[in-house]
Amino acid sequence: MIVEEIELAINTLKKGDLVAIPTETVYGLAANALNVAAVKRIFELKNRPSNNPLIVHVASWDAAQKYVQEVPAMATELAHRFMPGPLTLLLQKNVLVPDLVTAGSAKVAIRVPEHSKTLSLLKSLDFPLVAPSANPYTRISPTSAQMVEAYFGKDELMVLDGGHCEKGIESTIVGFDGTSPVLYRQGAISIEAIEKVVGPLKMFKSGQNATITPGMAKLHYAPKTKFLIVANIEAYLKAHPQSKLGVLQMGATILHEAHSAVQFKQLSLSSNLEEASANLYQAMYELDMLGLDAIIIEPFQDLGIGKALNDRIQRAAFV
Ligand code: TXA
Ligand code: MG
Repeated sequence: MIVEEIELAINTLKKGDLVAIPTETVYGLAANALNVAAVKRIFELKNRPSNNPLIVHVASWDAAQKYVQEVPAMATELAHRFMPGPLTLLLQKNVLVPDLVTAGSAKVAIRVPEHSKTLSLLKSLDFPLVAPSANPYTRISPTSAQMVEAYFGKDELMVLDGGHCEKGIESTIVGFDGTSPVLYRQGAISIEAIEKVVGPLKMFKSGQNATITPGMAKLHYAPKTKFLIVANIEAYLKAHPQSKLGVLQMGATILHEAHSAVQFKQLSLSSNLEEASANLYQAMYELDMLGLDAIIIEPFQDLGIGKALNDRIQRAAFV
């Protein structure tokens, strides 16, 4: 059920029930982070393995202090620069954060979403919200209330409508190895923008422990349809005239007249990476619903947020 009023969401969350909430990145499936039974229901509804921890959402960096221990100086700098915004920081948790939230890890992922409705919601609650992306495990993250409704409408989930997500891909996750900054997940804030504040980032290498970290879940953002990254869309279409294809297209080249049987989705006519980011998941999802033989895309320009977009399409293409 899609609703507009935050009062309905507040009451539902206070009762320990789940509500899908808008953020600037993607919609989240939210519950009271301090209510273990509610958090359990998130794992069940998403069909998510319990060793994959959840991000805690708070109204401000000040509010975050209540749930963490020592904070490295660089974390404070990043928080001052990017919060509210699509940055998640991995910090030492304190006892208030249930182990279920962090999948047993001593670190909690914490963020302040930049969305006016959800910030008002968080300010009205006396508990933080855990919110993984509001999709069944391994499916494409939703960027509109309608997409969440399509996934979970049958479960009578309340969806707080906050419009189309402005960024369209998940937050950038930064943690610390001692005091040096480590990139755990590329996202809506580019590596370059983070490095301007903290200097060179180390890339997180997964595999040391049992907690699933972002890099490990390769199939995370996958459509059901075969997904291919191709060097040249036009050449691919010419070589596969019999295939039922969907194309995720960037830029103004007109191909649809020559290939009338092919489904085209335009990500950004002006080849703008931010605009493409806002449109990517919805376009992928819509093509995925059409029963095509394959969805094809050319790699994005490998710079700024284009790097994060390339990360997501590589995961979608992973088989
Ligand atoms: O933009 C976002 O971050 C969205 C919106 C809804 O806020 N949320 C989101 O959550 O993408 P989710 O659960 O789909 O992805 C969170 C990622 C997961 O890959 C998880 O493994 C990692 O963050 N993560 C969460 N807590 C962690 C922790 N304590 N240690 C290591 N990784 C963690
Ligand atoms: Mg997710």
